[in-house]
Amino acid sequence: MTTDNQTMPLLRMSGISKSFPGVRALECVNFEVGEAEIHAFLGENGAGKSTLLKILSGAQSQDSGRIFFDGSDTNFASPRAAQMAGIVTIYQEFTLAPDMTIAENVFIGREPGSRLFVSRRALEQQTQALMERIGLDRSPNALVRDLSVAEQQMVEIARAISMKSRLIVMDEPTSALSRTEVQKLFAIIRALKRDGISTIFVTHRLEEVFEICDRYTVLRDGRHVGAGSVSETSIDGIIRMMVGRELGLLVKRQSTYATPDIALAVEELSRRRKNTDASAIELHGVWFNVKKGEILGIAGLVGAGRTETARAIFGADKIDSGRIIVDGTEVQITSPRDAIDYGIGLVPEDRKQQALFLSLAIRTNLSIASHDLISSLGVFINADKEDQLVDEYKSLLNIRMSSPDQIIGNLSGGNQQKVVLARWLALRPKVLIVDEPTRGIDVGAKVEVHNLLFEMAASGIAIIVISSELPEILALSDRIVTMREGRITGEIAGADADQEKLMTLMTLTKDRAA
Ligand SMILES: Nc1ncnc2c1ncn2[C@@H]1O[C@H](COP(=O)(O)OP(=O)(O)OP(=O)(O)O)[C@@H](O)[C@H]1O
Ligand SMILES: [Mg+2]
Repeated sequence: MTTDNQTMPLLRMSGISKSFPGVRALECVNFEVGEAEIHAFLGENGAGKSTLLKILSGAQSQDSGRIFFDGSDTNFASPRAAQMAGIVTIYQEFTLAPDMTIAENVFIGREPGSRLFVSRRALEQQTQALMERIGLDRSPNALVRDLSVAEQQMVEIARAISMKSRLIVMDEPTSALSRTEVQKLFAIIRALKRDGISTIFVTHRLEEVFEICDRYTVLRDGRHVGAGSVSETSIDGIIRMMVGRELGLLVKRQSTYATPDIALAVEELSRRRKNTDASAIELHGVWFNVKKGEILGIAGLVGAGRTETARAIFGADKIDSGRIIVDGTEVQITSPRDAIDYGIGLVPEDRKQQALFLSLAIRTNLSIASHDLISSLGVFINADKEDQLVDEYKSLLNIRMSSPDQIIGNLSGGNQQKVVLARWLALRPKVLIVDEPTRGIDVGAKVEVHNLLFEMAASGIAIIVISSELPEILALSDRIVTMREGRITGEIAGADADQEKLMTLMTLTKDRAA
């Protein structure tokens, strides 16, 4: 139809509407992306970002509205059709096959060579070339299962480049990445831009918008509320559009609830690499304690051993030596069940894989750890109490759902994370370890999660926070320990800490002086 390339941007979506049972996800949304443009697509959890992107990429169909891409009126019937037209989407949830190699994943379904006889060598060589282009230093034959999240994402990008895309859609690509990995990703996005490729970039870390994006679009409650040039707006301006009100940014906490009683101490926690798992991170004599009512931050770069420490305490990974002391008594923890029995909870970093039962209802996901709590006889689940629990946390965390019986896989990414958090908060443990508690959670909900953690501390729970976002660690912690390469490298009072001091401690190679 319209082929006026002078005025037509690369992508124009106009009047897109989409409803799900009980939810109006998109209402007459317009969205435009230009050639060689890096476009930030912003909005609170549940605003409709992923839904619009799924429509764009042919994974879902709109109820009404039109899509123009590269000058022509199109509608992609499937992700494959969108890919053929030059749009590749990297979803919030990865879609790689874990038990296949990098090369197989990059060329899945369209291997070079004849249809019947795929030349492994050609496959590997082409993959190697792509990997070099984006700086992924691995063998093309490595299994995807053994890659870090950042590396898996790079495989998805290699796949996108190999398809000669003109527009790459990235739904929250940085939420699971470290600072260095983010820089690497940004370098790739900039290089793509130089080659004329546009990127749609979804993020909840608004400073990233100002670092890399040219233009932005903001959605609120399924409606388009603003768009423009990044250089003509500010973080505050964007937040106002997103939430429709003023919002305080993260500030250092004023009061502390720490008591002198040690709730949990770990001593000389060590874990050695097994032959079978070459990429595992070792722990070397990790030691620290956390007091009742205290929030202890653990800061470190990726690979520092923070998550491994959390998993070791929670009984998710076996330790080789070391002591775990709860309320002054040494305990043996060999499984998460043991940890829960001793009152230790863990909100894991990788919630999709470790924490949610995606095909079950929200109510089940939320109450699953607290069944002891809500069942009067210890066996049956008391539906009324379960409803109460869901209600309480729904309003506390502002979880957007149509009903407690909604399948959790249909919630927006950020809202799924709130459910996992709520599950552990409901258990009211003695010690709660939260690993990246606000990953993928929007700016408004982040403040809510922080307030909730403060409230838990005030009620005497000892809290350990692991976060790659230093402002978050600084805002939450009474005290911070730093780790590097499986060792504790320093300790500093929250009040004395700043980003620079933490970075210095996080990059120290020596153990802290005992
Ligand atoms: N398949 C589905 N069935 C029912 N409701 C759905 C489905 N997919 C999305 N929704 C609902 O549509 C709304 C928009 O969700 P969407 O995933 O697009 O949000 P989002 O902006 O990507 O949020 P987040 O930042 O948390 O990822 C939410 O209320 C969500 O629960
Ligand atoms: Mg989303």
